[in-house]
Amino acid sequence: MGTPMQARHPAPPMIKRPGPSRRFCVAPMMDWSDRNFRYFARLISRHALLYTEMVTTGAVIHGDRKRFLGYNAEEQPLALQLGGSNAKELATCAALAEEAGFAEVNLNVGCPSDRVQNNLIGACLMAHPELVAEGVRAMMGSSGLPITVKHRIGINGRDSYEELRDFVGVVHEAGCDTFIVHARIAILEGLSPKENRDVPPLRYSVVHQLKADFPQLEIIINGGLTALDCMSEQLRQVDGVMVGREAYHNPYMMADVDKKIFGNESPVPSRLDVLEAMRPYIVRHLAQGGAMNHVTRHMLGLFQGLPGARHFRRQLSSALHQTDQPLALYDTLIDEMSHRLQPRDCPVEQA
Ligand SMILES: Cc1cc2nc3c(=O)[nH]c(=O)nc-3n(C[C@H](O)[C@H](O)[C@H](O)COP(=O)(O)O)c2cc1C
Repeated sequence: MGTPMQARHPAPPMIKRPGPSRRFCVAPMMDWSDRNFRYFARLISRHALLYTEMVTTGAVIHGDRKRFLGYNAEEQPLALQLGGSNAKELATCAALAEEAGFAEVNLNVGCPSDRVQNNLIGACLMAHPELVAEGVRAMMGSSGLPITVKHRIGINGRDSYEELRDFVGVVHEAGCDTFIVHARIAILEGLSPKENRDVPPLRYSVVHQLKADFPQLEIIINGGLTALDCMSEQLRQVDGVMVGREAYHNPYMMADVDKKIFGNESPVPSRLDVLEAMRPYIVRHLAQGGAMNHVTRHMLGLFQGLPGARHFRRQLSSALHQTDQPLALYDTLIDEMSHRLQPRDCPVEQA
């Protein structure tokens, strides 16, 4: 792999496949990418493919199905991420996902947490390509949805390119054509899940090599992407990008995605439009017995980098807990932010 991939490989052709476009995906993030965040994200980008948090097969089969498979229609296109390795259970869940109207089922082979490892879920499955293949085959048999796999470039003790290539080859033979690759290995002992998202170095060139070796596959790159220009650069070498933390902490970065990544010229709502559009959603959420913070905790970064961002964040996080009139506080905040941002913030402006 010595020489830079960029120089050697021309842009891959756009591959047409049934199912949603994966040019820009918002990553599955436990506790973060819940339905409230996804509704909010969808107001900012019409075309990004959104992923649920990981749901284990056990939770779907034995738990509160309405909770685990529930979403707002507006969130579509939406992919369900499953955690599991039992082929029969995966097949059952993929069928349920299709019935529930998801656009894709994604299998988690990237999570390094001890808790999931003990249940043979997540990144530890990279050591068991045949088991992953069996699961993929079973899901393809039970559901007509696209079945995708999200994985790492390796795990400790199994981090050679050859092992990665074999993993992808075996899973592809089972029928998976789309691989979402977090471009760092996972270290399964001694690092927390959080550290496993920062400590092992990013190696984008490995993902580019995978695309070069499997040009017929759809390869989505993930890990550490923050600037749209860098994403556009990646799209010259792979088929799509997946963004996690940046989309969460700086959600308005998604305002440029429809135009710059999907070539869609439709007008984009301003930050204030988004703030206003969330109000009826919050009202519905409150009427159903939800707490306002369940929704607003995902919105703290909306004004990131702009005047008033700190005030906005503080009001929505701490002040909200000190009032018994949370909606009134929200309305005041809309007014305050609109005064601070006169004239209305421009959708494509960068903070
Ligand atoms: C809070 C949090 C929760 C996560 N939960 C999941 C998960 O449920 N499933 C999964 O495949 N990855 C999960 N991830 C990893 C992300 O999907 C993504 O691979 C990782 O954050 C790297 O992308 P980024 O650098 O763009 O954030 C999580 C990440 C974060 C920050």
